[in-house]
Amino acid sequence: MHRYLDCNATYPQLPISLEAMVQAATAAPGNPSSLHWAGRAARRIVDDARDTLAAFVGAELGSVVYTSGGTEANNIAIHSVLSTANPGRIVTTAIEHPAILNPLETFVAANPEWELVKLRPNRDGVVTADSVEAAINDETRLLCMMYANNESGALQPVEEVAALCRNRSIPMLVDAVQMLGKGRLRFNELGIDFMSISAHKIGGPKGVGALLVRRGVRLKELTPGGGQERGRRSGTENVPAIAGFSAALGQLDFSVCRPVRDLFEAELVEKLPYVEVVSQCAVRTPNTSLVILPGLDGETLLMQLDLAGFAVASGSACSSGKREPSHVLLGMGYSELKARSSLRVSFAPDSSREDALALVEALVGADKRLKGMAGITA
Ligand SMILES: Cc1ncc(COP(=O)(O)O)c(C=O)c1O
Repeated sequence: MHRYLDCNATYPQLPISLEAMVQAATAAPGNPSSLHWAGRAARRIVDDARDTLAAFVGAELGSVVYTSGGTEANNIAIHSVLSTANPGRIVTTAIEHPAILNPLETFVAANPEWELVKLRPNRDGVVTADSVEAAINDETRLLCMMYANNESGALQPVEEVAALCRNRSIPMLVDAVQMLGKGRLRFNELGIDFMSISAHKIGGPKGVGALLVRRGVRLKELTPGGGQERGRRSGTENVPAIAGFSAALGQLDFSVCRPVRDLFEAELVEKLPYVEVVSQCAVRTPNTSLVILPGLDGETLLMQLDLAGFAVASGSACSSGKREPSHVLLGMGYSELKARSSLRVSFAPDSSREDALALVEALVGADKRLKGMAGITA
């Protein structure tokens, strides 16, 4: 039996979203920039989708810039700010997604007159507003903070930090990719300059997302071209994907995952008391559980669970064949060994108590097998 418990990586596309894509591709075959009937039909689909998305995230229509996903949205915002500002300080957190950390690190490596400050979280995986306040100064040109961490699920104090940035006129980019559909997003109320979101975390298609841009903020294009998206993101709009994104909005209620997630954690700790639940004291996205099973290798565990039909994630990232321990756990002060012993389970709204209990059983079995092989007795 296959159980998909890796929803923070991606959510399998919803049939309603797929249908909207097929409908858009067949009923509106034109280029939205074309003036004829076929183009107008495509334009209507994009306009309607933009309306729906803006309302869903509490933004103005003009704020929505469609992109190829969260990564591109982050890159556009970062490029726009950094390529037009005088050298200064960039403040971010050590637990950001690589879609924030990589563009910032690449920029600073090429422009050594800039300074990058990566704030460490506390033991609960939260970067406090106090630590942000202490790090920002008159030279701060950009602040990047994620809404919810993709590994631990820990929510960050985005509202408080947004107020700090507003008071000091510091542009703020919030990576809300893991928050979309899992909590309330009100872009205008935050008063920030930028927010990134992605469709595939909520059952929409992969390869489409959006950058929300505050009214009055001029966006410098990353990929100049035909001037689509009001000159903010050139390239013919991916009409079917935009329609599929729109159709997925509001379809999933992740809050129903909470009791299943809590049952999983309680049962696991009861059966294997040495297990550590990461960020258990923080406010977390309701579907996310990051656990550390000391003495076991996360990747090996993942493969064992895969054989038993479970799709989960290990905390380590695999880049160019080299396995790196989770930078999120390292940032939280966990040892490299512990960071390599982590497993992330991200439940779906239709995950059942039975799924949670079956996963616990599979983990107990894997623990016994792997420790038996290594000659370790509990
Ligand atoms: C927090 C966060 N930011 C950005 C991204 C990248 O989004 P996309 O896959 O749409 O490029 C992800 C995807 O895993 C994410 O979890």
